[in-house]
Formats: sequence, C-alpha cells, structure tokens
Amino acid sequence: MATILIHPDMRSAIIATAERLLLTAKAKPGAVLGLATGGTMEPVYQELVEQAARKRLSFAGLTTFNLDEYVGLAGDHPQSYRSTMNRLLFDHVDLPREQTHLPRGDAEDPSVEARAYEAAIEAAGGIDLQLLGIGRNGHLGFNEPSSSLASSTRIKKLASSTLKANARFFGDDERMPTHAITMGIGTIMRARKLLMLAIGDSKADAVAAALEGPVTTSCPASILQFHPDVTVVLDQEAASCLKLRDFYEDIHPGGQEVYFAGTR
Ligand code: GLP
Repeated sequence: MATILIHPDMRSAIIATAERLLLTAKAKPGAVLGLATGGTMEPVYQELVEQAARKRLSFAGLTTFNLDEYVGLAGDHPQSYRSTMNRLLFDHVDLPREQTHLPRGDAEDPSVEARAYEAAIEAAGGIDLQLLGIGRNGHLGFNEPSSSLASSTRIKKLASSTLKANARFFGDDERMPTHAITMGIGTIMRARKLLMLAIGDSKADAVAAALEGPVTTSCPASILQFHPDVTVVLDQEAASCLKLRDFYEDIHPGGQEVYFAGTR
C-alpha cells in the first residue's frame, strides 16, 4: 500500500513535500529528480529554494527531468513549463542549467523529441524520485484518461477539462496549446520512488479514485497502486473523499511518518 500522509493543512503538506525532496538531495547529491509543474507545485518550489538557502544545501550534482511540456511553446515562452521551472526553481539554486531537462516544445519533430527524452532519462540511470501532482480527471503529467498504463514519453492531446483547468495560466489573447509531450505512465512507473502531492477539494474525487478505485485507464493515477514505493501527501480537503481516511490517519497521525515501534 502506498504511504498516505494526511496533513492538517495545506502549508504542512507543502513543507513535508519540499522536505522529502531536500532529503533526497542530501542523501544522494547526484540524484536524478523527476519534477512536476502546476499550481500545486509553486509553493513547494518556493519552500525548496528557501530551505536550501537556509540549510546551505547544494543542488549542483542533481539532474532533473520534468514530466511534460506544451507542444508548440519554445522554452522562452512565458507559459512554457521550461520558463515556469526556471522562474520558480532553477534561477534560484546552484543547479547548472544543462543538468535540467524538459522536452523541447518547439522541437521540429515532437515525436522524435519524445523518444530522445525517454532515452535521456534511461541514459541518466533512471529517476530516483518522481514528484507528481494529479489532474482533476486523474491525469499524471499529461497522461489523460485512456492513456496506456505502459506508455513511454510521447505526444498527447489534452482533454477539454484540462484545457479549461489550465487556461488560467494563459492570457485572454493567448492561444493555449492543445497537445503536450509527456512522460508516459510506464516512464513514471519506472522511477524508483514516487511522491504525489494533492491539495484542495477540487482534487478529492481524483485522489479517491486513484488510491481506492479500480486500476483503470479511466483514472491514470490509479496505476500508483502498483508501484512499490509511493508516498501520497494530502491536505484535509484533498483527502475528504477517501473511504479509509480514518485508517490512514490512524497509521500516520497528522500526516507524520511513524515507523513500526512494536505493540501498543
Ligand atoms: C497539469 C500538469 C500536471 C499537474 C496538473 C495539476 O496538467 N501537467 O503535472 O499535476 O496540471 O495542476 P494543478 O496543480 O495546477 O492543479
């Protein structure tokens, strides 16, 4: 079973997520981190930057691979995930830019780019820890419902609900991309550890379907049930539709990791 950590509030869930990333960077300075975008991750990166500075922690040996990028957006487009990551994280830490990877949204042939991205992850030795958000329809990266649960990095058309949810990042006069290059579900599942963060009641149904529903392409995040090392960090609202909520809270009171310490 996944480790399900239900935190008392959003702030505590965000700090816990940032701390796990920091712990990985500290324990393995040459780690390969899989990163994610989305509104949920913005405060996580802010916390990460602040804590790394405070603890004088270097990211110089890390390699990062982001989940996805919009097809058609060059890296310097303000809404590209490349610029978002630069703005939120990479501009503020000592991680050499060439060690940070996102698919190139403006590649001449996006399919070739997708295959090269998958190969680059493999060549880096695979991902040690993959950070994940979750879409309201249960998507991971941009693997929309119906995505193959064995898929590798490729191009996906965005669901209309995703276009609607992400339209807030684009100006009224800006055309939003309709396709993305995304790591596949298989790519994500090959990461040695997964760390999913969900905040707020708009994610409650997707979280319940992912963690307690059947494993199905209708909810791509449900594949997490098959991963041997997955931690899910939630706030109260995101956990609100979980049937076994009391059980998870009993095992990890307040979202704290509690290790087996004998009988009680
Ligand atoms: C996008 C990203 C996903 C992310 C999702 C949720 O679609 N491709 O990786 O999990 O949005 O984003 P938010 O955190 O803004 O709800």
